[in-house]
Amino acid sequence: LSMQYISFYDNKTKEEIALIKESGHITYLTHQYLKSLIKPGITTKYIDDEAGKFIREHGGIPSCLGYEGYPRNICVSVNDEVVHGIGSDRVLKEGDIVTLDICTLYKGYHSDSAWTYPVGKISRENERLLHHTEKMLFVGLKEVKDGAHLNNIGARISEYAHKYHYGVVQELCGHGVGRELHEDPDVLNYGKYNTGMKLKTGMVIAVEPMITAGSRHINILDDDWTIVTRDGKNSAHFEHTVAVTDDGYEILTGE
Ligand code: MF3
Ligand code: CO
Repeated sequence: LSMQYISFYDNKTKEEIALIKESGHITYLTHQYLKSLIKPGITTKYIDDEAGKFIREHGGIPSCLGYEGYPRNICVSVNDEVVHGIGSDRVLKEGDIVTLDICTLYKGYHSDSAWTYPVGKISRENERLLHHTEKMLFVGLKEVKDGAHLNNIGARISEYAHKYHYGVVQELCGHGVGRELHEDPDVLNYGKYNTGMKLKTGMVIAVEPMITAGSRHINILDDDWTIVTRDGKNSAHFEHTVAVTDDGYEILTGE
């Protein structure tokens, strides 16, 4: 056994990464299905119910359900809700933005992906928020490769966010993914270049910028789950689970 196999962080084997990718494909298909349902007039609970059915029909289990007591299948967060919104009788209306954060457990492995969608026609301001937050996910991911410093991801994300005067939520972060939904390391959305641990081929992480149109500060609602912006401005969230490779990354929550 050579030293390279002794690591606090649990690098995955090719076989494990293949299983996470199968799990991630279900997460991806669930996104595509739910995206097709989004329109003014549906409730957030309807989206959640459909998510639960779809994931189970594909052999998966919704990882969020029961996670630290979380009551529903996925997280559905509208407008100023940043994350962990709970499906309810709330009706989506034209101009809203809605984040679906979907986690699947399949053959013992989790996957995690979030995406913010428009409801009907949205404002120019909301379009910009979605466009730039999606870009932030990919500029962050561009920093991912074997030997790269972990904090370069967040450094790049926050640099991009601040250029466009967006806020970066600091109380929440990305994470390792595997047999547990949340594993080490924490993947922050801010930080200093060339600090933090070095990423290694075989690590699986979720990168997930949570970005606000106004100030970065948040509150938690009385339901003890829903995180909202303190100033009431909208928020967007894009997330992929990826495997670190020798020269970059492989998306595991895609086609
Ligand atoms: N997708 C969320 C994350 O990465 C997990 C939500 S778990 C829940 O943090 F319990 F809040 F649903
Ligand atoms: Co996540």
